[in-house]
Amino acid sequence: MANIETFAQETRIFPPPAAFAKTAAISGMDAYNALCAEANSDYDGFWGRLAREQLTWHKPFTKVLDETDAPFYKWFEDGLLNVSYNCLDVHLQNGNADKVAIVFESDGGDVVKVTYQQLYEKVCRFANGLKSLGIKKGDRVVIYMPMSVEGVVAMQACARIGATHSVVFGGFSAKSLQERIIDAGAVAVITSDEQVRGGKRLPLKSIVDEALALGGCDCIKNVIVYQRTGGNVTFNPGFDLWMHELVANQAADCEPEWVSAEHPLFILYTSGSTGTPKGVQHSSAGYLLWAALTMKWTFDIKPDDVYWCTADIGWITGHTYIAYGPTAVGATQIIFEGIPTFPNAGRFWDMIQRHKATIFYTAPTAIRSLIKAADADEKIHPSQYDLTSLRLLGSVGEPINPEAWMWYHKHIGAERCPIVDTFWQTETGGHMITPLPGATPLVPGSCTLPLPGIQAAIVDETGHDLPNGQGGILVVKRPWPAMVRTIWNNPERFKSTYFPPEFGGNLYLAGDGAVRNKDTGYFTITGRIDDVLNVSGHRMGTMEIESALVANPMVAEAAVVGRPDDTTGEAICAFVVLKRSRPTGDEAKQIAKELRDWVAKEIGPIAKPKEIRFGDNLPKTRSGKIMRRLLRILAKGEEITQDISTLENPGILDQLKEAQ
Ligand code: WT7
Repeated sequence: MANIETFAQETRIFPPPAAFAKTAAISGMDAYNALCAEANSDYDGFWGRLAREQLTWHKPFTKVLDETDAPFYKWFEDGLLNVSYNCLDVHLQNGNADKVAIVFESDGGDVVKVTYQQLYEKVCRFANGLKSLGIKKGDRVVIYMPMSVEGVVAMQACARIGATHSVVFGGFSAKSLQERIIDAGAVAVITSDEQVRGGKRLPLKSIVDEALALGGCDCIKNVIVYQRTGGNVTFNPGFDLWMHELVANQAADCEPEWVSAEHPLFILYTSGSTGTPKGVQHSSAGYLLWAALTMKWTFDIKPDDVYWCTADIGWITGHTYIAYGPTAVGATQIIFEGIPTFPNAGRFWDMIQRHKATIFYTAPTAIRSLIKAADADEKIHPSQYDLTSLRLLGSVGEPINPEAWMWYHKHIGAERCPIVDTFWQTETGGHMITPLPGATPLVPGSCTLPLPGIQAAIVDETGHDLPNGQGGILVVKRPWPAMVRTIWNNPERFKSTYFPPEFGGNLYLAGDGAVRNKDTGYFTITGRIDDVLNVSGHRMGTMEIESALVANPMVAEAAVVGRPDDTTGEAICAFVVLKRSRPTGDEAKQIAKELRDWVAKEIGPIAKPKEIRFGDNLPKTRSGKIMRRLLRILAKGEEITQDISTLENPGILDQLKEAQ
């Protein structure tokens, strides 16, 4: 609630700069309102018009939205197209073959430029290579790769032949990779020998080997390895294949596989309220339509922009706003292999200066850590760099606190660049609630208003609308083209998670709380209302971390909560009961370290608890329910002032104050 009040008191308002508005794709609030009105008066007509304008169809669709099997909505279903064709071939036909598609910068600073013609040829060669292995339309392919041109090539090549990719972030463990391979029933894994981040080499191929050795992955027929470093790898000839050898004799053209608009372009696993990650399945046409359109609406992308999204292709942001959105609109984009703090924390500003980036899209957690670094060392302060090429800034992944927003605005945007605070999710496919840089007056900390056609609202526990000013549950009232289509292998979970019967079964539940400003109607996201944490903009399920902890033979019971963290937004705090007596002192520190490493092995380093606290028990009600509310207060280091008379074991609270 404190959050809600802070944001409600925010009175600073930043209208779009006139020069920006003048050339913007959506210029002024009248233009925004006109699009909203068009969607409201003729929903099918609105989306049908946009799908015809934005996409190149092999066979046009005759019906826009099919709701007969709701909530399994179908969009443009009888239309045929190919996503890779829409991202590559169209630009060659439009005279943009020699336009730079990707400016790749390695961790060490080497720069490679790839034109649309070259990208097309790389994708076609690799697509032909995949076909030569018997990989075909409908097969699933897991991609476990570093940030690279080849990562995008792998995704686009799958799209070209109609294979459904599932990218697994390179920070996930062998076990997480194995679970995803099995759930997707993948036929191949595409990986690299190693990845390089912050001057360090990290193995990827050996983690793939480890994942396959865990068992149950007989579905995998081949592992394709991009040679990034030339580091040592174990190679099983015939089964393991080098990417460069696979493409060596392939033709530089590949006829695209024309697929239905609803064909699954990809599955992307994301954490939810229960132990197992959900395979969020996206479509082809509806997804690509929104990727392209939001590049134009939200990022106002223009032919000579140099666009840079710092996300990893392992997350949805890297799918929509690196692999597909920028290519669909024929943009020039920067792809960066490394990390923001190497060789120093001025790396982002240095790269913006050198590449003359015009649009920069990053996460609040990165901004906050770079604020700290700039305060500590004036040599890498943004004022030391020429950032005048910038014209637009973006933020994504978690709420951006007004202080960080103001710093971003002042020190990176020189009080000249609008900031688009884009609220969306893995499931939404693209931006949902966001300012339009040439139209929407900005308020720090608010993602402002839904995009045209997006019927976002705030409701109470029974699904009824709440008035502005009252915090509640964020929902979307009508289907939209880029929405998640199902959870892979689990349509029932799709229905119960996103369209729960308590809300009538027809409201999409985002999983976030939100409030609208009394006067402006602007949305502020107040955070997840389920058991999902947001650590550095990465989604982590508390249950998932708890199951990892209790899988350790030492652990009897575990409860995981989030606590606010200045840099990462939220930090993971685990309360653990061991099977043996409660450890103290050095022994407690030692076991805490073992458990952290264990979680890194079970899920990945991103899931490592920042704090572990040991108790002989957890605070429980008389019926045995863990009082997580109390654990959250303890995690924040605050005193418990509320009534704890319903607790079975109030004495336990003292034990749990000490962090390891
Ligand atoms: C959750 C989705 C969207 C791509 C990256 C994360 C939070 C995301 C914002 C924002 C406030 C935000 C929400 C959402 N979130 N963007 N601009 N303001 N909160 O994708 O892993 O699917 O996580 O991130 O809580 O539900 P994701």
